[in-house]
Amino acid sequence: MSSFSSESYFATQPPPPNLEESISGVRQFIDRHIQENRRIALVTSGGTTVPLELNVVRFLDNFSAGTRGATSAEYFLSHGYAVIFMHRQFSLQPFSRHYSHSTNPFLDFLEFKDSVDISVSPAEAPRLAEVLKSYKDVHTRGMLHTLTFVTINEYLYLLRAISNELSRAKRYALYYLAAAVSDFFLPTQKMSEHKIQSTKGSLQIEMDQVPKILKPMVNEWTPEAFIVSFKLETDDNLLIPKACAALERYGHQVVIGNELHRRKLEVVFVSRSSDGEGFQESWIRLKNDQSEIENEIVEELVKRHGEWINRKLEYIRFR
Ligand code: PMT
Repeated sequence: MSSFSSESYFATQPPPPNLEESISGVRQFIDRHIQENRRIALVTSGGTTVPLELNVVRFLDNFSAGTRGATSAEYFLSHGYAVIFMHRQFSLQPFSRHYSHSTNPFLDFLEFKDSVDISVSPAEAPRLAEVLKSYKDVHTRGMLHTLTFVTINEYLYLLRAISNELSRAKRYALYYLAAAVSDFFLPTQKMSEHKIQSTKGSLQIEMDQVPKILKPMVNEWTPEAFIVSFKLETDDNLLIPKACAALERYGHQVVIGNELHRRKLEVVFVSRSSDGEGFQESWIRLKNDQSEIENEIVEELVKRHGEWINRKLEYIRFR
């Protein structure tokens, strides 16, 4: 297995065809919100795929429904942030997530009056009206910009290009990297052009390591931003050590650790302690069945981001 640096990755793997077009929309969105002095959050959400063939029939996938990202995006919007929502195609999205086809099908709340007149069932109408109001308001005010990825390659190229644009927002930018990103990939140079044939017997694939893009992100792409990454583990005992190791290695602001089965009930915030010598951890737990843990997560991050902005301003003032 070889491991790619971010430079060698971008030098050898082809950019997605529609990258320029996607980025010009993001650029306009960011410029407008910088002019209006607004904080901007980039939320990544959903899992990336790793195609095994150039004419892709099969791929490996990373687990994620996109719940964390879509829910958190709504809370960032409610705190006045402009949100760039970069998500896996067909994963959950802010607002429409409340009526996901698999868990809460929208059609179940509609009633026929006659062939052209349809209404929402009275029991569901207040909740739907609330969601619809927020959705319309966000779109009318141009507060949400959505982009999609499918493959790890699209994800990495999009993230780099958005970071280059968002770096203009400096300390007002917050990165919320909730996507579940593949650690391994198959470089295009090693991929079979056509569908891998089963007649060859068992399948053996050696994958290369995906570059850890948090490092160039923190050091080069967007050095003044407030960056939050996530760490998903299935072994509780690994959460804190892995989060500390990530902070040590990349030097960003917060790692949010979550265990797979308890991720909707509790998460742990790990960050540098104020003297910079060690690490501090604080747990956030779901208060009751009616609330969503992303509400508490985002509230805490908005506070910490505010402190980060103030510290940066003080630094500029006293320099
Ligand atoms: O969508 P849900 O079903 O609600 O689930 C939410 C979640 C569990 C997926 C989410 O809360 C979460 O934990 N996301 C991160 C999953 C994870 O552990 O990713 P990772 O180990 O591949 O990456 C850790 C961090 O490093 C991520 O923030 C990622 O952006 C970053 N990374 C990853 C790979 C890579 N090559 N470079 C990176 O910088």
